[in-house]
Amino acid sequence: VETSSERVGVWLIGARGSVATTAMVGARLVAHGLATADGMVTSGRDFAGTGLPPVADLVFGGHDVAEIPLVKRADALAGERVVPAHGLAAIGDDLEAIDRRIRPGIDVSDRAAGATTSLDRVRADLERFRAEEQLDHLVVVNVSSVEAAPAPHPAHTDLVALEAALAAGDCPLPNSGIYALAAFLVDAAFVDFTPSTATRLPALGALAVREGRCYAGRDGKTGETLLRSVLAPMFAQRGLTVRSWAGTNLLGGGDGRSLAEPERSAGKMATKGGILAETLGYPVDAPLHIDFVADMGEWKTAWDHVSFTGFLGTAMAMQFTWQGCDSALAAPLVLDLCRLTTLALRRGVRGPIEDLGFFFKDPLGTPEHALTRQYDRLVAWAAPARA
Ligand SMILES: NC(=O)c1ccc[n+]([C@@H]2O[C@H](COP(=O)([O-])OP(=O)(O)OC[C@H]3O[C@@H](n4cnc5c(N)ncnc54)[C@H](O)[C@@H]3O)[C@@H](O)[C@H]2O)c1
Repeated sequence: VETSSERVGVWLIGARGSVATTAMVGARLVAHGLATADGMVTSGRDFAGTGLPPVADLVFGGHDVAEIPLVKRADALAGERVVPAHGLAAIGDDLEAIDRRIRPGIDVSDRAAGATTSLDRVRADLERFRAEEQLDHLVVVNVSSVEAAPAPHPAHTDLVALEAALAAGDCPLPNSGIYALAAFLVDAAFVDFTPSTATRLPALGALAVREGRCYAGRDGKTGETLLRSVLAPMFAQRGLTVRSWAGTNLLGGGDGRSLAEPERSAGKMATKGGILAETLGYPVDAPLHIDFVADMGEWKTAWDHVSFTGFLGTAMAMQFTWQGCDSALAAPLVLDLCRLTTLALRRGVRGPIEDLGFFFKDPLGTPEHALTRQYDRLVAWAAPARA
């Protein structure tokens, strides 16, 4: 039975970051009646009667390696016009209460202390959150800094090898994988909003299926790729041949700073790059640039130039410029994903929640990228008739 009396916990990895802070500020402003849920997918009428947990009831906690208090982080985001300044005073106590539930994330010293130390600690933090808050469901969401792809290891692909390594006190997983594994070990769902590796590792996917855990990802689709997932099907359906599709992204903020490192941006390039060839059905020359421009703060500009040919080979071009506030676009999706993943937990989904592909650049478990088809699938899945 879908009721709102359940206690749903949301554990944010990267809880002091821009996306996480914006999501929590938004949820608490909605809870106090100081904002509406406009901008959230699940507040639309297609989701009426689906019995999703109310945003105002979500209980937050998380991990971060940064120590800046949430109230300060929220003030800084208000200063950049990401969240409204009015109302922050009214939710100050709420943010301080959440602050007390944010635990230190996995850092270098943690990993140096012992191979499985970080896994044990993250797992204990999650268990404590579940017990103290008397949660019925727990969703762990990765919104931490993009990490570099890990060096290949047999335990990444083979669950037997992973379990043997863990039993021997070794933990050959990247940080994102440790967070995902800890989530599965405490019967939580794991959502990867980042391009990091996490549940992309076949061993973790196999563990989730075997243990009846669910996960979703990866890399939230919020700007340039969102537009591509609308426009690429249009070119395909109208028989227009795309000759090249070049993209340039300028962004500031913590995410922009992280993506300035080539090892970290490689994952983002991969999740952004897959959609064109998969949707169009042929390889396309699609150079992509991501540049860090500190001055842009929390804002981002993407410029795409598409050259294509139509009937009788006539050459044409289209260009678009997207100027988005990344966290304001991402935060409502994080809240949507928490609500929808609760539905998956209630239904006992095992493995990737394929019906959530609408939200991601690199949807796990399904090759479908076209936004309208993804949306129709999402609405059909969430419909009460299926519950
Ligand atoms: N904003 C968007 O539109 C969007 C879209 C898709 C994906 N994402 C992804 O979401 C993530 C968050 O973006 P953001 O703008 O909030 O970035 P941010 O830099 O503001 O926040 C990241 C947070 O993660 C923390 N962190 C770093 N390492 C950690 C660790 N080992 N454990 C726990 N916490 C750790 C940082 O201290 C920081 O507080 C990024 O990976 C980004 O690529 C964002």
